[in-house]
Amino acid sequence: MARIPLMAGNWKMNLDHLEAIKLVNELNLDLEDHRHDFSAVEVAVIPPFTDIRSVQTTIDGDDMKIKYGAQDVSTHDNGAYTGEVSTAMLTKLGCSYVVVGHSERREYHQETDAVVNEKARKVLTAGMTPIICCGENLEVRKAGKHVEHVLAQIEADFDGIPTPDAAKCVVAYEPIWAIGTGETATPENAEEVCGAIREKIAALYGPEVAEGMRILYGGSVKSSNVAELMAEPNVDGGLVGGASLKAEEFGKICRLG
Ligand code: G3P
Repeated sequence: MARIPLMAGNWKMNLDHLEAIKLVNELNLDLEDHRHDFSAVEVAVIPPFTDIRSVQTTIDGDDMKIKYGAQDVSTHDNGAYTGEVSTAMLTKLGCSYVVVGHSERREYHQETDAVVNEKARKVLTAGMTPIICCGENLEVRKAGKHVEHVLAQIEADFDGIPTPDAAKCVVAYEPIWAIGTGETATPENAEEVCGAIREKIAALYGPEVAEGMRILYGGSVKSSNVAELMAEPNVDGGLVGGASLKAEEFGKICRLG
């Protein structure tokens, strides 16, 4: 099955709603100017919760060419959970994607694989696509245990997710040592782990699901390195942080450099 690459811009905790509107408008223009083929490379932005409504309004009526999603979601449906945002709220806002298990959530909010698994299931039940993040820190990498570490995350994050749902998921491999550091994993580093993830998915769900699954790389992706990363057979796109905050640069990334 041919996999359509996905370039998703994770804005993290950046941009107020006016800046969000400006960026999406500029990105739209940039992609239009270059006659971007959305069936060749899918494009998504992942703004903070406070910007989602503005992004929705800005790209409404544009056939939803640029998709969008959220950076996190609650495990609860509704009620007395101050500060939380539910899947129902996100579907109502037209979100296609929800990032779950980003290393910054795991590190600063103590999210375990069990929580990531619960969130991924919630997102699937709500009809959205989870972008399930995994990745090792520098210590694990230096110990040469990165592949086993990531595969253990994958196994736990997909625990109990049935095959038809697993087939809808996107995985993002983000080595923590390459996030926001300017230090990108080499294409070989990315391929080693993305390939191992695909094999793991094949072992869990069979070759068809594995072949169809999009596995993204994240960690200092830029227009200058995206082409070589994307040349790897098991890298199907990018989860892009800092470089997604500039329309021209992210547009270039969407054109693969
Ligand atoms: O989710 C994207 C990410 O963590 C990578 O961030 O700034 O290194 O591209 P950055």
